[in-house]
Amino acid sequence: MIQSAKGTYDILPKDVYKWHYLESIIKKTCELYNYKEMRTPIFESTDLFVRGVGESTDIVTKEMYTFLDKGGRSITLRPEGTAGVVRSYVEHKLYADPNQLSKLYYVGPMFRYERMQKGRYRQLHQFGVEALGAYDPAVDAEVIALSVNIFKQLGLKQVKVAINTLGDSESRSNYRKALINYFKPHVHELCADCKKRLEQNPLRILDCKVDKKHKAMLGAPNMIDYLNEESKQFFNQVLEYLNDFKIEYEIDTNLVRGLDYYNHTVYEILSNVKGFGAHTALGGGGRYDGLVEEIGGPNTPGVGFAFGMDRLILALEAENIDIPCNDDVDVYIISMSDKTKRYATKILEKLRKNDIKCEEDYFKRKVKAQFKQADRLKAKFALIVGEEEILENKISIKNMKTEKQETIDLINLIQEIKDRLEDYDDSKT
Ligand code: HAM
Repeated sequence: MIQSAKGTYDILPKDVYKWHYLESIIKKTCELYNYKEMRTPIFESTDLFVRGVGESTDIVTKEMYTFLDKGGRSITLRPEGTAGVVRSYVEHKLYADPNQLSKLYYVGPMFRYERMQKGRYRQLHQFGVEALGAYDPAVDAEVIALSVNIFKQLGLKQVKVAINTLGDSESRSNYRKALINYFKPHVHELCADCKKRLEQNPLRILDCKVDKKHKAMLGAPNMIDYLNEESKQFFNQVLEYLNDFKIEYEIDTNLVRGLDYYNHTVYEILSNVKGFGAHTALGGGGRYDGLVEEIGGPNTPGVGFAFGMDRLILALEAENIDIPCNDDVDVYIISMSDKTKRYATKILEKLRKNDIKCEEDYFKRKVKAQFKQADRLKAKFALIVGEEEILENKISIKNMKTEKQETIDLINLIQEIKDRLEDYDDSKT
């Protein structure tokens, strides 16, 4: 038997309503904040991610699905959404928009060749937002508020916002030097990845999962001490806005994020719920003022985040949050005999054309079994099509909750069903 590829899974019809629910809240909230949806290709030139995500990141060095296409081009399945959105922003010169601030959101699959675990997949699903064009701490606070708002609407309670700043390029470069000087004497004790990181991206040593308990971590220089005035002010303003919005956060000076493009604000939202699994980061993001230029556009600031939808679904389940599921059928049509089947099917199509969700039997079931099937599908009403009734232009309708059955004129069928559906929730068993 051929099975789904390692690190991927099927979202079966019985679960898909959870995704629809999540997507509907994402769409509603993003649009409330005036973000517009953008859809970019699932594969891009490899070069985009090498330049965009960063040559020394784990994503680029270990996790990309890269291949040569039949034309010999190096192609990569997108491991994240920001680089593609920025590429599109530059390619379509969206920076020339008189609104100046492009507020974009996206939803879709991403691909990372990672070790498969609960909450960590090779085809993962993200939704994210990117606000391109404004160097204003209010935008950083806005994207954080947007994500917190989505969590609130989903009913997720056991979450915490962790925030940090990496400062502007001057501050970051001073901090980088300090980290290199500090970790150099310990380099032989660090893991193989951190040995490489020391020269390439020493900030990443701070969130290394292998070395996190190493004694050298405790005394490592703190970013806050290397921030210049401008960077301090920017960070304080972001925090002031968050205070104004009554968003609770914790400053985590070791939070550096795994992608190279960040400066100033970085943040993550983590789940505290028991049993959620090892990967507690539901999502994160930050500011990336150099990325548009790196991808070939004009100097343009940007800030955004992405959330793992797979992990959000797991968090909803771990917090026992009820997700509304509306897969009940309005009407099940019961055919009393073979002779009435054609007539029943004609009515079925007519109901569907009138926005009534309905179903019938396709297996020549006996009448009793058809009623059983109506129950299984949680049909609100059964329409019973009998030969005699057809002759009289009548049809019987049974409320499956109250079991009350009535005969109605065929000519009024649609209106009669619609009226009954409207009153259905109030009908007593
Ligand atoms: P990221 O932290 O690499 O950021 O990914 C964001 C979220 O995607 C993670 O917090 C996690 O929930 C989810 N995720 C990542 N990898 C996996 C995986 N293998 N399986 C399941 N979920 C996963 C970014 O991708 C940036 N583009 C975010 C951003 C947008 N920054 C600015 N704008």
